[in-house]
Amino acid sequence: MAGVTMQARPAEIYLNGRFLPPEEGQVSVMDRGFLFGDGVYEVIPCYGGRLFRLEEHLRRLDNSLHAIRMHNPLERGEWQAILERLIGQLPGADQSIYLQVTRGSSGQRDHAIPDGIAPTVFVMTQPALYPDPTTLATGIKAITLADNRWLRCDIKAITLLANVLLRSEALDQGAGEAILIRDGQATEGAASNLFIVQAGELITPPKSDRLLPGITRDLVLELAHQHGLPCREQEISEAMLDSADEIWVTSSTKEVTPVVELNGHPVGNGTPGPIYTRMAACYGEYKALLQAGRIPS
Ligand code: PDD
Repeated sequence: MAGVTMQARPAEIYLNGRFLPPEEGQVSVMDRGFLFGDGVYEVIPCYGGRLFRLEEHLRRLDNSLHAIRMHNPLERGEWQAILERLIGQLPGADQSIYLQVTRGSSGQRDHAIPDGIAPTVFVMTQPALYPDPTTLATGIKAITLADNRWLRCDIKAITLLANVLLRSEALDQGAGEAILIRDGQATEGAASNLFIVQAGELITPPKSDRLLPGITRDLVLELAHQHGLPCREQEISEAMLDSADEIWVTSSTKEVTPVVELNGHPVGNGTPGPIYTRMAACYGEYKALLQAGRIPS
């Protein structure tokens, strides 16, 4: 149709050892992922056909599986082969890989973890929905909400109902993200990590069971060190958040997104700040090097 760009959809997903058309993928209703949200996942960006920080994502997957008493069902090389085949369906395109491992099915619903059942392994890739340049240039609004999640936020669990409700609350209030507050401290976003700039210094909360150890977060810290931007890992009180010169949220899908309004008040002068502009340039350069094959996946 003239004037309409149809985005290519991948023809295959991966499910339990097979590559299938998405509509042919079937999982038992007795799967513990379906019944209990008993599983973990990863979202891995892919820029121009190159996987972003694959080692780090697979290491976090290992940690999540270990934390829920599961073994990784695949070797590193097997994961890579699956991901490469799926991203090969949209050659050279920016994509977002979703992979999930659930505990599988014992044929009955019982909270206790059964012995010896086969996990369910599912992987798909989608054309990337990275923030559009306008959003990055103008920033987003955020609100603060009470962090009512469990105390194992370090596990990338598929059990995301609290995050879903928190994010919906933010959207209802016209905001792009909810920044979560627990015991007077800002922990992270509903689906992102948190950074602030205070007196020229970049601050993010240290890793703990209150937040996901984000791969993007780690890269931002690495880039800050490399490029001489002062940064430190420190708890961020609600008062620090309210008076921050800059606020950013980071994730595989948001990359580094500036927050320009918090709870209806401007952050700094209400536009993305100068430290953000420097980090955005560093991040863009990193992506360009990755795409050019000058940084390993
Ligand atoms: N979520 N914290 C939470 C609660 C998240 O859900 C995410 C990402 C992050 C950032 O992690 P990373 O930089 O590794 O993407 C932090 C993904 C994108 C999701 O659930 O879709």
